[in-house]
Amino acid sequence: MAGCSILLLLLVRRRVPARTCGRAASSLSALRPAETLPGPPSWPLMGSLPDVLWKGGLKRQHETLAQYHRRFGKIFRMKLGAFDSVHIAAPCLLEALYRRESDCPQRLEIKPWKAYRDYRDEAYGLLILEGKDWQRVRSAFQKKLMKPREVVKLDTTINEVLEDFMYRIDEICDHNGQMEDVYSEFNKWSFESICLVLYGKRFGLLQQDVEEESLNFIKAVKTMMATFGVMMVTPVELHKGLNTKVWQAHTKAWDDIFKTAKHSIDSRLQKHSADPQGDFLCDIYSGGQLSRKELYAAIAELQIAGVETTANSLLWALYNLSRNPQAQQKLFQEIQRVLAAQESPSAESLRNMPYLKACLKESMRLTPSVPFTTRTIDTEMVLGNYMLPKGTVLMINSHALGCSEDYFRGWAEFRPERWLHRGSIHPFSHVPFGVGRRMCVGRRLAELQLHLALCWVAKNKEQPCCCLLLKERHQLWEPKLWRLQGRTAPLLSQEWHQEKLPECFIGKNALTRRGKSQVLS
Ligand code: HEM
Repeated sequence: MAGCSILLLLLVRRRVPARTCGRAASSLSALRPAETLPGPPSWPLMGSLPDVLWKGGLKRQHETLAQYHRRFGKIFRMKLGAFDSVHIAAPCLLEALYRRESDCPQRLEIKPWKAYRDYRDEAYGLLILEGKDWQRVRSAFQKKLMKPREVVKLDTTINEVLEDFMYRIDEICDHNGQMEDVYSEFNKWSFESICLVLYGKRFGLLQQDVEEESLNFIKAVKTMMATFGVMMVTPVELHKGLNTKVWQAHTKAWDDIFKTAKHSIDSRLQKHSADPQGDFLCDIYSGGQLSRKELYAAIAELQIAGVETTANSLLWALYNLSRNPQAQQKLFQEIQRVLAAQESPSAESLRNMPYLKACLKESMRLTPSVPFTTRTIDTEMVLGNYMLPKGTVLMINSHALGCSEDYFRGWAEFRPERWLHRGSIHPFSHVPFGVGRRMCVGRRLAELQLHLALCWVAKNKEQPCCCLLLKERHQLWEPKLWRLQGRTAPLLSQEWHQEKLPECFIGKNALTRRGKSQVLS
């Protein structure tokens, strides 16, 4: 015990303590080892898995984590089987982490993806790269994707797909204004939209008859996503060695993804070879920071990271607006004030729509499509008065932050107005796109897509413009959309209020479960 305290003292002397919540970390007697972190009950071998399962399983994991934070505080430790992690949900801890992060922060490894790339001698993209290579590839994309003045140039491209999406919604809504398989349709929109940005090509997913090449591509993405989870929890080397069905399907899916991505990227580079600076992708490549192989991998991963996240965020935003007619009304009025009749929204017009932006922020606070992200710390770190050893996996629980009364008064209410008062919300209490150097590189693009999409859905329509409900079926939430064009409030009041709506609704899992097996099929 004495040895442990001396070690802690030595370690502390070598580093400047990070800012901790409330109490100063310089009070050495307050510094405690990670073993003493509070946390849920833990059983041999299984850790807290039984408790998590009892509370609703992985599907309700984000809610369980929020409960744990209420019970154990801003920082706690949990084991799920052999997986040991420290959970944080407090702006001051995130800020401390941000201030002390290394040049190349790390997330949890996605081993199955790495195994495929090594097997086929393909490169890694941003989701799985580490160290200096990650930094180099990131900086190649950073200037095009993270600079607002570059991203706004994509508004016409995004609008092209949105215009088709609006036609499609009207086309496929039945005579009651109701659309089946909303999840799949919204994923088609975001898939088509990101593909047009990245490959400069329409895949035709919003048409009645989708081409075979496009269908194969989306099937491959679906299979790849459906097969990697198993290999995250069982050794991927074993799957590869035994050539299991899962490994075969995963490999074949990546083969198909790379085939289409390479073909589309090659044509785009060829088409703009005379004036590479004039094209989004060619400009990135012409910087000379990336090899062609790295470009293929990075683009394929951008696409994979940008589809479901964006579609889910739009669904949740519509859902939250559906439940809050007053917010919907205000949004509609703002859009009417800024846009002339028949005028399409643009990045420029969005500058005058603070309420629309607040609606998206509020929706992403209450129902983030990615409820947490991770960091593997590469040096010992003092966080919340605990000394965390190198290699600790940190879970950054953004969903728990968003539903904390400490940081958002009346957190369960959808109140976009809270974002309109400058300085009233701590910047590290809202992190739906992650934090620091490794935060989502597609953030600005996603926000532009979502702002424009909200505008298209809400503009020029009678109030309320649409109503999105979640119906519980087979224990999963099924989204249903009613387009209320030409309809009036009775539909809303009769069907909506009688519906047994969930008290609490959530990030990714609940919504995607059913969708995953269906999406884009
Ligand atoms: C609403 C939509 C989106 C949400 C909520 C979202 C959320 C996130 C989050 C939470 C992370 C982890 C960040 C961290 O660890 O700190 C991330 C990483 C990433 N996202 Fe997004 N994302 C969205 C859209 C997109 C889009 C459209 C793209 C592609 C253009 C994209 C590409 C990526 C990539 C490549 C990474 C890894 C970045 C790196 O490690 O350098 N995302 N995203």
